[in-house]
Amino acid sequence: MSAMPIYLDNHATTPLDPRVLDAMIPFFKEQFGNAASRNHAFGWVAEEAVEKSRQQIASLIGATAKEIIFTSGATESNNLAIKGVAEMYAERGNHIITAATEHKAILDTCKRLEKNGIRVTYLPVQANGLVDLDMLREALTGKTILVSIMYANNEIGVVQPIGEIGKLCKERGILLHTDAVQAAGKIPVDVLADNIDLLSLSGHKLYGPKGVGALYVRRRSPRVQLTAQMDGGGHERGMRSGTLNVPGIVGLGAACEIARQEMPEESKRMAYLRDKLKDRLMAELDETFINGTMESRLPNNLNISFAYVEGESLLMGINDVAVSSGSACTSATLEPSYVLKALGAGDEIAHSSIRFGIGRFNTEQEVDYVAGKVISVVKKLRELSPLYEMVKEGIDLSKVEWTAH
Ligand SMILES: Cc1ncc(COP(=O)(O)O)c(C=O)c1O
Repeated sequence: MSAMPIYLDNHATTPLDPRVLDAMIPFFKEQFGNAASRNHAFGWVAEEAVEKSRQQIASLIGATAKEIIFTSGATESNNLAIKGVAEMYAERGNHIITAATEHKAILDTCKRLEKNGIRVTYLPVQANGLVDLDMLREALTGKTILVSIMYANNEIGVVQPIGEIGKLCKERGILLHTDAVQAAGKIPVDVLADNIDLLSLSGHKLYGPKGVGALYVRRRSPRVQLTAQMDGGGHERGMRSGTLNVPGIVGLGAACEIARQEMPEESKRMAYLRDKLKDRLMAELDETFINGTMESRLPNNLNISFAYVEGESLLMGINDVAVSSGSACTSATLEPSYVLKALGAGDEIAHSSIRFGIGRFNTEQEVDYVAGKVISVVKKLRELSPLYEMVKEGIDLSKVEWTAH
């Protein structure tokens, strides 16, 4: 084994593809121009590279180059989409709908808007992690200006029925934004077919660089307008001022191009490795539960709860493997994942969950090693668990009367 742990946390971030780095390097060195410098060759070269990237990103999601706005990442894209619509369409309405399982970059943006008089509906999700379309339909009002539902979830990988949500929004003339950070480059995304009006992307989730992202803003039927959230030189059609991060943008474009070309093959390989991991864990361990539906899911995601095992203890036991647990370490306390809780999972199930995120550079050998390691550590930890022992002895824990001393 290498000195570094095996990296299976590809939803948190992905390594930079060496081909992406090769594309970026010239723009740190001799081609350092400002893309807004219109009066000399340094600027023209940079601008041309930026426009090429815009086209590469657009091609990945079925958009046109002019509809791509560069940002510093998906957190900014999400902020710009939601706050930009709320301000621009304030006269039309003041109601936004999102879901309880969204990323904090959506939820906290909405919370901020609530302080400014916007009404926000946080739709619950079903036990399988998916939004209920009937509940969404019922939540739409004459004042609804925006629906923001993520394409695929970053913890449990479930893929929302975005096409159907898009149809619903289109019929009612309501804008649809989707945080497609985890989906883009992993599964086909088509803004036209799905009636998506705004879509957020991030470089570092698809083997591109960190600190660069994009927002797709539809230009036709309807032409979406946004109030800029940053004042300055009026870059990016006035929606996002600031000198463009040319190397980062070139990297994002190259990453999108590679993802588009390799997705059919790569998604099959991801699903094969993921299913191999799942099948072994499920076959060799009992009291083990998959969080979120397997029917509508990213090919590289697996989220499993190992009952009677603390996720944090499991992480320590498999310290040569980099994965995430469903306990988010916030300040001094271990908070169970709000995503898993939204699925109806109890604190124990949330605390005992592990997210596996398989990526482009993982090998079958690595996945086999991780499966074996997790199985042996879970078995060892359960040997120390009185609760697990009681369950194995046939005791129904829900009927036990616990006494506190
Ligand atoms: C679903 C989702 N949205 C948004 C973000 C934030 O992206 P960025 O790191 O580019 O700001 C992430 C990454 O953590 C994510 O997984």
